[in-house]
Amino acid sequence: MAKKRVGILFGGKSVEHEVSLQSARNVYEAVDQTKFDVVLIGIDKAGLWHVCDAAVLGAGTSPSAELAAGAAGESLALVPGETERALVGTGSHRGLPRLDVVFPVLHGTYGEDGTVQGLLKLANVPFVGAGVLGSAIGMDKDVAKRILRDAGIPVARSVTLTTRTAATASFEDLAGKLGAPFFVKPANSGSSVGVSKVRDAAGWAAARAEALRYDRKLLAEEFIRGREIEVAVLGNDSPQASVAGRNHPAARLLFLRGEVSR
Ligand SMILES: Nc1ncnc2c1ncn2[C@@H]1O[C@H](COP(=O)(O)OP(=O)(O)OP(=O)(O)O)[C@@H](O)[C@H]1O
Ligand SMILES: [Mg+2]
Repeated sequence: MAKKRVGILFGGKSVEHEVSLQSARNVYEAVDQTKFDVVLIGIDKAGLWHVCDAAVLGAGTSPSAELAAGAAGESLALVPGETERALVGTGSHRGLPRLDVVFPVLHGTYGEDGTVQGLLKLANVPFVGAGVLGSAIGMDKDVAKRILRDAGIPVARSVTLTTRTAATASFEDLAGKLGAPFFVKPANSGSSVGVSKVRDAAGWAAARAEALRYDRKLLAEEFIRGREIEVAVLGNDSPQASVAGRNHPAARLLFLRGEVSR
């Protein structure tokens, strides 16, 4: 049987570009290359797509800066086609073979938020992971919490503010509703980018400015004391849950390499 050709898509325009390179390296190292041919496709910070070699994913905890700088060579385009699902290259990439499936390993906006999923769907390219709606809802913490609340799932109390309403919200108002300290975070971000713990009025002013660097919408959220546990769920009609994991970078790497099972 011919090997399936998997395109791993990583990098991207979001502030989580470097985090994505680390995730892509974990996925790349976990793929059984006797069963799958892997094509690494890096998106630079300007949004251009490039065929890359594994060196771009870097080593240790420091991904290479080559892709971010847009120095990864000629770029690609994705064109819709009913049978010829194709990434079209220029120059030496002109003959790039058809991909059977794309694995988006992008973090944050322009990747985890339904945009890339929509592009792949329009181009008839099968892809791994959540679809357009799930991705979009999952990216926006304000919308995600509304949906969870509607399903009867407890969520931390929070107040959603926009650039305009955040300008007039005082620390006392928020602390009155949420208690203190409280957390402030952009509605659309990840990897703790733009997240602050607020203890006083000066902290609120700084946290608001920081969160609004990444989004025009932010959440002020009650402080939850505890350990953070993550569980992945795969499937729709017969969903399967993963073992529960603690969000710890070193533990996650060992898990992906199969060295620990929980
Ligand atoms: N309400 C809260 N109470 C206590 N700690 C919090 C709270 N909100 C955030 N934190 C801390 O900040 C970290 C980052 O927050 P959060 O997970 O909400 O955003 P993110 O990691 O940037 O987004 P995502 O999880 O979507 O990638 C959490 O892992 C946790 O340590
Ligand atoms: Mg998080």
